[in-house]
Amino acid sequence: MRAIHSFALALLLACGVSTAQARDWASIKQAGSIIVASEGAYAPFNYFQGSTLSGYEIDVMNAMAAKLGLKVEWRALGFDALIASIRQDRFDAAIASHGVTEERQKSVDFTNPHYCSGGQIVTKRGGPTKGAELANKVIGVQLATTYAEAAKKVTGAKEVKTFPKDTDAQQALLAGRVDAWVTDRFVAKAAVERNAGAGLVTGELLFVERVATVVRKGNGELRDQLNKALAEIKADGTLKKISEKYFKEDISCQN
Ligand code: ARG
Repeated sequence: MRAIHSFALALLLACGVSTAQARDWASIKQAGSIIVASEGAYAPFNYFQGSTLSGYEIDVMNAMAAKLGLKVEWRALGFDALIASIRQDRFDAAIASHGVTEERQKSVDFTNPHYCSGGQIVTKRGGPTKGAELANKVIGVQLATTYAEAAKKVTGAKEVKTFPKDTDAQQALLAGRVDAWVTDRFVAKAAVERNAGAGLVTGELLFVERVATVVRKGNGELRDQLNKALAEIKADGTLKKISEKYFKEDISCQN
């Protein structure tokens, strides 16, 4: 009997039992760890420090998980693959600066926001800083982002170039291959500081957004638990502390 059991177990292990992993709350709790994906190319929110995922969102998720008595098993994927992968049950949650949009809400669920921000124009000195000045200009944005959506809506833009990573769009601006880059205002601020001397300037905010963790559609209990943990790290000052570590200000949503 025992032999059969261990044989069955070995078989299961050999098969990898790996595909369906967007688990419900009970299974996550039982496992003691939550599998969370991010991107790792979007500083200061999520980036690699050597081979370690770091940044504001990584700290926020680790703090939330600690409140829930869980460890985090991190995964890194291209930003444009995250929502599709959640839908394929590849992991339990994604924290990668997803703005809460109606379009995304059709396919995934969002927790409450861990920060509030917006899409901002970045250019080189003398370049377009206002939405209206983007007419006849080439705009660089990361693929599958709310910035790409906003750029497509700019009237009269010459071209919207999409890049796999936000840092590629930034590089294109620095190299003069695009006239403007639309990105998060805190990413923009950090990029301007990091590239002092390159003559980068920030312009108008094209839109504002609330940014939250993504879970599989219908995974309500997990969403509620993450919301509870977020409320706890807000209440005890942890969220503010993490925010100040990366931004020297509190970027959490005030309402
Ligand atoms: N906030 C934007 C959006 O919702 C961009 C997020 C990009 N995130 C990233 N990890 N590159 O689409």
